[in-house]
Amino acid sequence: MKMKMVSAAGWCGALLALFGFTVASSRAENVPDLYLHEGQSLDGEWRVIVDPYESGFYDYRYAQRDKSVSPNRSETFYLDAQPADKSERIEYDFDTSPTLRVPGDWNTQAPELFYYEGTLWYRRLFESAALAAGERAFLRFGAANYRADVYLNGQRLGTHIGGFTPFTFEITQRLKAGANSLVVRVDNKRAKDAVPTLNTDWWNYGGLTRSVKLMRAPGKFIAEHRLWLESEETKNISGWVKIAGAGQGEDVEVAIRELGQKATVKTDADGVAKFSFSPKALQLWSPEQPRRYEVTLACGEDKLRESLGFRTVRTRGKEILLNGQPVFLRGICIHEEFPLDGGGRVNNTEKARQLLLWAKELGCNFVRLAHYPHNEDMTRLADELGLLVWSEVPVYWTIDWENEATFKNAQSQLTDAIERDANRACIIIWSLANETPVSEARTKFLSGLAATARQLDSTRLLSAAMEKHSKPGAPNVNVVKDPLADLVDVVAFNQYTGWYDGLPDKCAKVTWEIPYDKPVFVSEFGGDARQGRHGDRLERWTEEFQEDLYRQTLAMLDKIDGFVGCSPWILVDFRSPKRVLPGIQDGFNRKGLISSDGVKKKAFYVLRDYYGKRAAQTKP
Ligand code: GCU
Repeated sequence: MKMKMVSAAGWCGALLALFGFTVASSRAENVPDLYLHEGQSLDGEWRVIVDPYESGFYDYRYAQRDKSVSPNRSETFYLDAQPADKSERIEYDFDTSPTLRVPGDWNTQAPELFYYEGTLWYRRLFESAALAAGERAFLRFGAANYRADVYLNGQRLGTHIGGFTPFTFEITQRLKAGANSLVVRVDNKRAKDAVPTLNTDWWNYGGLTRSVKLMRAPGKFIAEHRLWLESEETKNISGWVKIAGAGQGEDVEVAIRELGQKATVKTDADGVAKFSFSPKALQLWSPEQPRRYEVTLACGEDKLRESLGFRTVRTRGKEILLNGQPVFLRGICIHEEFPLDGGGRVNNTEKARQLLLWAKELGCNFVRLAHYPHNEDMTRLADELGLLVWSEVPVYWTIDWENEATFKNAQSQLTDAIERDANRACIIIWSLANETPVSEARTKFLSGLAATARQLDSTRLLSAAMEKHSKPGAPNVNVVKDPLADLVDVVAFNQYTGWYDGLPDKCAKVTWEIPYDKPVFVSEFGGDARQGRHGDRLERWTEEFQEDLYRQTLAMLDKIDGFVGCSPWILVDFRSPKRVLPGIQDGFNRKGLISSDGVKKKAFYVLRDYYGKRAAQTKP
């Protein structure tokens, strides 16, 4: 939790609030370690109102209702009002409205919401015991796509923007002992100045897509912590723990009992306690041996535990070193979408696990979680299963580079992603962008994000999915030359030779110019195949075409100097409104190695065989 200095505006807001003004409070905070605290799940059936004209948010003069001194009871949904008598006009009623399941996108829960892009109101009633003296209460949202305005018992808590990272509102002063009404307006409309912007190649799933929890914590509680391995030789572990509500001198105990490590350290004036360990018998985390240790943290009455792996990652010239050893990344791209059980956003651990088990079946040691931070189950499961991770923010295609608010939005989403997952051993790469057009404004925007990421986390590598271009006058010479490559540690690019650029036979003719002394990672390649459609290798949309494309592409990539791995596009077919070819796409991007019915295509086995050979090569 960032301790905010209360500005003059803040005091003004507080006074206004005293007189019933509801001031749009600041962006919700992300308090990473609330996830580890005990909480009351608010998942399940929520009452909903679909509000395409946003009449619950704006009055008939298009004034925002929650900025009014006395919002109109009859039409202001977040008041969750009932008629006081048989004459009162209340033109909504959550109690008799339909329901939707939370967590979950709305698109796959009701046919009339399949293409819906707009505002939808959620309402959840819940009971709460009275807070003990000094106890604090929070509402934690795993994510809401895309904008969430949150109200508790008719009072505005604030707004969060960004569809894929957690956010939290403190409700200590607003929670009632007994019945409470939680109302959330979610708006998934796309916008030019949003992140992502108007144009993407994935479905705009809206809603409370991840879990919602009521969290309680003592007055001083563990808000955030970091542990990292300084060196695979010395095995020194450093770390810090941030205690919310604390200043100088609080005792914090940190222990890794399996390693015989325990320390009690004191917080500094900012409530941060630093520590270091030098265990002797530490087993390093790796995909082959995803060894984790239970770490316990305690401060006063607050006690937390979690399993953490310890490893190092860095580059050396054109190599990526994991625990000091060169590693080849046998990857695959994954969208946070599950093909079966109705489809839509991954909304439980079982679906997350199945996607990662399919990746393991491919022989992967790496997954690119495209194109946005996936839910925290995915990264915790990757820790458990032994899969390295590329984590990415949705700075995708034609972002509004000149817009300061857009930069702040992207920076906020990157910060939340790093703060949420900073202790996940599996994550080795933070990705800043995907296929963004080169311009001065874009590179300035991304250099700002690179500085933010480096400032927040110096223990991981930076990358971004760049693009290749054909050399002018030499169509068979592919060049990767991008000012962004100077800002990152790993030069990654998407290339579709044989699909968007010629046919698969072109792969054998292509040479590459990649003028950087950095590791080279191919973050996408692939082609569509409708599972079960067969023909010869030149017939587009067949499994045979895709199979041949994989064979020829892999042979081409193997010739690239500094080639350290790839993550073909993509594990599973996924929904996209851009993909409209009848009988073949039908609203799906068909580049999956597994179909939207969960059936493996022929190319799945080409990649699995290739990775099997690669794994055998790097066996010590
Ligand atoms: C792009 C993009 C993906 C997209 C893919 C495709 O590289 O990164 O999001 O789905 O190509 O065209 O299928």
